Amino acid sequence: MHRIYFDNAATTALAPEVLEAMMPFLTEKFGNPSSIYSYGRESKMAIEAARKTVARILNCNPGEIFFTSGGTESSNTAINASVNDLGCKHIITSPIEHHATLHTVENLEKKGIVRLSIVKLTDKGHIDMADLESLLANSPEKTLVTLMHANNEVGNILDIQAVGELCKKYDAIFHSDTVQTVGHYPFDLKNTYVHFINGAGHKFHGPKGVGILYVNENIQIKPLINGGSQERNMRAGTENLYGIVGFAKALEMATEHYNNDSEYIRGLKSYMAEQLTHTFAGVSCNGDTNGRSLYTVLNVSFPKTDKTDMLLFNLDMAGICVSGGSACSSGASSVSHVIKALYNGKSETMVPIRFSFSKQNTKEEVDAVIEKLKDLI
Ligand SMILES: Cc1ncc(COP(=O)(O)O)c(C=O)c1O
Repeated sequence: MHRIYFDNAATTALAPEVLEAMMPFLTEKFGNPSSIYSYGRESKMAIEAARKTVARILNCNPGEIFFTSGGTESSNTAINASVNDLGCKHIITSPIEHHATLHTVENLEKKGIVRLSIVKLTDKGHIDMADLESLLANSPEKTLVTLMHANNEVGNILDIQAVGELCKKYDAIFHSDTVQTVGHYPFDLKNTYVHFINGAGHKFHGPKGVGILYVNENIQIKPLINGGSQERNMRAGTENLYGIVGFAKALEMATEHYNNDSEYIRGLKSYMAEQLTHTFAGVSCNGDTNGRSLYTVLNVSFPKTDKTDMLLFNLDMAGICVSGGSACSSGASSVSHVIKALYNGKSETMVPIRFSFSKQNTKEEVDAVIEKLKDLI
């Protein structure tokens, strides 16, 4: 069965060129980067070259980039360091953050370590900037604002510059979960007021289990993982050498082809949205699909019926990989915290499906999925 993979916001296929760049470090160049002999020095040099590449692309200093195991670790580190090392006693976040953020801040609140405020959303699911300013203005404590750059379920994009300016005005620490945008969006960190961002290699055709944490040079945090002196004493443990090399290569390729790839993928998304809304009665787009929205993510809701209730399962049986937010093991879709927050009260009558695209997808695949949906509904 030919599989159609429309779940690129979950993870992407490793690019062959990335694997090629990684291979020598999986085979003959296996030295421990901490060793002083030539094998080790070669590995160390590869890591530092990767760091420079990442820093050049994000327009920051290499010293501000730390390699981690991925988006989750980086968000956990940023949030906990803001509290433990930077004196934040109040956290402002949104109800549609990834669980790597939400569960971390909820845990801190539950332990009585911080006060937690949840910022309001607009009708289209963007951050209500007036509410954010009011929360910041009424915060006597040092505050951490943690808001994601692009939402992984509906694709809404945060105005990171505007939020940064508000954080600057109120002297708040700003962490943005950029896992869905690093490798999909041009960054200029020297000209963005943000203290922490993160990234995960597997979201842009790099390897899994490797990511970055950017820590602005004007703040000082303590290591979250203690041990050896790797990552300049910030993250102990022998480095994921081939992963780091792969991360940098994937980011380099994503940047090089950004204009063409983003335009192509945006075209697929618009085409699919058009086909879905014209072909099926009652289908609606979730989030700000035609506005400030990531070009890779399309989230639509089908009206809940006996047939659409098992849509995820039936699409899977047909070899079509999509996501429903959080799928439960029975195959029936369960509505995620993001859809619930956006469509409070209405979400129980909806069957949301996320289609997320990459440069490897085609218009023919969109047509094939539409045909299959016609059969199923
Ligand atoms: C927005 C967002 N944040 C964080 C993560 C977690 O990244 P990782 O799985 O690399 O830890 C993901 C991945 O699904 C994500 O989409």
